[in-house]
Amino acid sequence: MIRVEGLTKDYGERRAISNLNFEAKQGEIVGFLGPNGAGKTTTMRILTGYMPPTEGTATVAGYDILSESLEVRKRVGYLPETVPLYTDMTAFEYLKFMADLRKIPNSADRAFEVLEMVGLDKRAESHIGNLSKGMKQRVGLAQALIHSPEVLILDEPTIGLDPAQVVEVRNLIREIGKQRTVMLSTHVLSEAQQVCDRVLIINKGKIVAEDTPENLQARLVGSERAALRVRGDADGLSKLIGKIKGVQNIHTAPDGSVEFQFAPGQDVRPEVAKAVINGGYELLELRPVGMSLEEIFLELTREDNTGRRKEK
Ligand SMILES: Nc1ncnc2c1ncn2[C@@H]1O[C@H](COP(=O)(O)OP(=O)(O)OP(=O)(O)O)[C@@H](O)[C@H]1O
Ligand SMILES: [Mg+2]
Repeated sequence: MIRVEGLTKDYGERRAISNLNFEAKQGEIVGFLGPNGAGKTTTMRILTGYMPPTEGTATVAGYDILSESLEVRKRVGYLPETVPLYTDMTAFEYLKFMADLRKIPNSADRAFEVLEMVGLDKRAESHIGNLSKGMKQRVGLAQALIHSPEVLILDEPTIGLDPAQVVEVRNLIREIGKQRTVMLSTHVLSEAQQVCDRVLIINKGKIVAEDTPENLQARLVGSERAALRVRGDADGLSKLIGKIKGVQNIHTAPDGSVEFQFAPGQDVRPEVAKAVINGGYELLELRPVGMSLEEIFLELTREDNTGRRKEK
């Protein structure tokens, strides 16, 4: 359980996070989705007791992060953005050491257990300094799990992992999240949608949207976009497709392709293709264009303003 009220952090003059309010319940995986500098790491560091907030309060596993930070640390597993690892130790030695620090009985068994959980048991005897970046990330994750914490706070848990490991770690998080409280940060919209029960979108230190992945998806398909590429000169192309009903917001992308939008359920692409060919152009490509994270923020904040946002 995590409860955050009015959390604010200033670094000197710069406000990194501003009046954050949210909750994460037991058995819930909450995703923190946002671009670089949004304030994800700042929030997580405050929640794990590594840094005090400037204003506001939070409780983690029922304990106050300021007045009961030791109790919080006992109950929270934290995968920091950059994991401080002892590179001279083997993976096993390091995890046993962490288990001993936390006074976990049978620390050797437990160390091996968490190595297995993150798929590193075969590298238990490797020195951490000799492990690949993704493997180091997994040692960090193992360290966060060592004391079976009630609350897990994972700062970009899948960054640097290969695709197979991304799938495994996501599955592991889902499994862990059934009984515990998990908060994870990510830049990747699809990751938030696949793993999380609820997604908080943070931008410039503020939560701009909060929803289930399903609702979020529904809100994001507010309009669809496609890009069109022809051989040679694209002059007059915008004008040509601009005459087609339902084609909106035409503009030329830096690579010379012509992008346009259309309403969902009103797929204008067949008409566009026909018009382009009948117009004497050689059609090379007509492809869907995904939304960037930044555009999603714009879209979501815009929806906020028009009151289309689903309140819960
Ligand atoms: N120690 C610090 N001193 C001063 N400013 C900081 C410090 N740490 C972070 N900031 C600033 O606070 C803001 C939020 O940073 P934060 O690291 O929390 O973002 P983030 O969402 O984790 O970004 P990323 O996706 O890049 O990890 C940024 O503007 C950053 O420059
Ligand atoms: Mg960060």
